[in-house]
Amino acid sequence: MFRSALLFSAACLTAAGVVVSAGAQAPPSKVVTTATGVYTAGQASRGEQTYMNICVACHPPGTYTAAAFREKWNGAALSQLFGLVSKTMPKEQPGTLEADEYADVVAYLLKINGAPPGKTALPTDVALMKQIRIVMPAGRENPLGQ
Ligand code: HEC
Repeated sequence: MFRSALLFSAACLTAAGVVVSAGAQAPPSKVVTTATGVYTAGQASRGEQTYMNICVACHPPGTYTAAAFREKWNGAALSQLFGLVSKTMPKEQPGTLEADEYADVVAYLLKINGAPPGKTALPTDVALMKQIRIVMPAGRENPLGQ
């Protein structure tokens, strides 16, 4: 009895510790996360227009705020998402947008998943984007993508 109570409280402490370190401590090295304001509000609204003009034909609103997408990309380097979108999308005409249009649309994807805007625009330089890790804040699932 006593032993299982101890184990239980140790598990609680560990769980609490994970939450604290995810939110409050800077990650080691130069890696920053998408929780630190890595795109501008202007980028995200331009990206929203691009999404609604082009991407929505195949990806209805809500596709990229769904749990499957959030879980898949949580913790990935932003360069991976940017690389996928810029090299393979739009599916029938991959690579046909400008690099900054791809950055805008990626900024929009971050925004609808609860990442805050900041003062610095998302770069189009893949080496810089490798230093940015995607974090999907818990509790921000938004099936309508609003
Ligand atoms: C003509 C249809 C079409 C258009 C337009 C299109 N996509 Fe896609 N997209 C797909 C298909 C199909 C897939 C599934 C993977 C594959 O077949 O490459 C996909 C996959 C993706 C993925 C990966 C999803 C995941 O679960 O990781 C992302 C992100 C994405 N598209 C973003 C975009 C964005 C942003 C645009 C607009 C610039 C866009 N797509 C335009 C058809 C399309």
